[in-house]
Amino acid sequence: MLIDLLSQLQGDWPEQQYTSVSSLRHRQQYSQVFTPFAVAEFMAAWGLKVRGGVKKVLDPAAGLAVFARALKAQGAASLQITAYETDAQVLHRCQDVVDYLRPSMDFEFHAQDYLQSGWEATYDLILANPPYRNFRELTGREQRVEEWSEKLSVTLSPATNLYVFFLLKAVAQLRVGGRCAFLIPSDFLQQDYGEAVKQYLLRNGLQGIVAFAAEASLFAEVLTTSCIVLIEAGSVAETVEFITVNGMDGLQGINATLDCHNEQSPGVLRQRLALSALQPAHKWNDCFQIKTTVRLKHSTLFSRWARISRSP
Ligand SMILES: C[S@@+](CC[C@H](N)C(=O)[O-])C[C@H]1O[C@@H](n2cnc3c(N)ncnc32)[C@H](O)[C@@H]1O
Repeated sequence: MLIDLLSQLQGDWPEQQYTSVSSLRHRQQYSQVFTPFAVAEFMAAWGLKVRGGVKKVLDPAAGLAVFARALKAQGAASLQITAYETDAQVLHRCQDVVDYLRPSMDFEFHAQDYLQSGWEATYDLILANPPYRNFRELTGREQRVEEWSEKLSVTLSPATNLYVFFLLKAVAQLRVGGRCAFLIPSDFLQQDYGEAVKQYLLRNGLQGIVAFAAEASLFAEVLTTSCIVLIEAGSVAETVEFITVNGMDGLQGINATLDCHNEQSPGVLRQRLALSALQPAHKWNDCFQIKTTVRLKHSTLFSRWARISRSP
């Protein structure tokens, strides 16, 4: 019985359970798209390699605490985990998970908007899959763009999507040498608003980006291209790894030091580029060895039929 519960918590069961009892409308309202456990484990394993060790961890958009569960499954103990979550339904469903985590971890849930929390605390490790929302759906976005631009000395575009605010704030909350792994859509790599984001990441310890190939849809309910952005604060890496994986199989072919298990791991394509060669104004999709944009079967490019312009 206990073994059953353990194996369920070290897998996708809490999210599957929650998905079966909550409405799609509710999940969409909170942008609830859950990280597959195997992906969370990869991010946790990479994150645990922080020089000087990991004690303080942040998950700014926790859901059912998949990253804390993945850290525990990787054998991490005695961590102080701070988690933010705004949905009361998720918090209510999370009790089993919290009971499972608490004996070996100091796990603190804040029923609060992470973006409105303070900026002062610093962390050794930040793992996240933040909510995805288009900039048009955001309330108070001009104010947020202004605040983030001023705090981080970047010029963010008014067309910046919600997940970027989570990413940039989290990077600013890393201690020197601390690590952050973010699972986010990969649209910032090629869209104009992403220029300031790429500039900020290059200045703040970008180590690599693991992109999922267009065919590898990670989420059942959402069609999006995804990537994992890996940062080590204050690091002076001369190169950045651009890795494309074909899905879970490919991801399992690379280890926590971003090396392939085998000389030629199937489902993994990698390219290491000099930091000095990376231009924030360029479309970084070209840095990967294969296409990472979504192209549906039987579809044609929109640009063949019409042009579109976006007003802020
Ligand atoms: C994309 S889901 C990811 C959940 C979980 N981290 C995972 O990877 O499976 C984002 C979560 O953030 C919560 N959320 C949405 N807006 C938030 C905010 N402003 N601050 C904190 N949490 C938020 C949502 O309710 C949702 O559970």
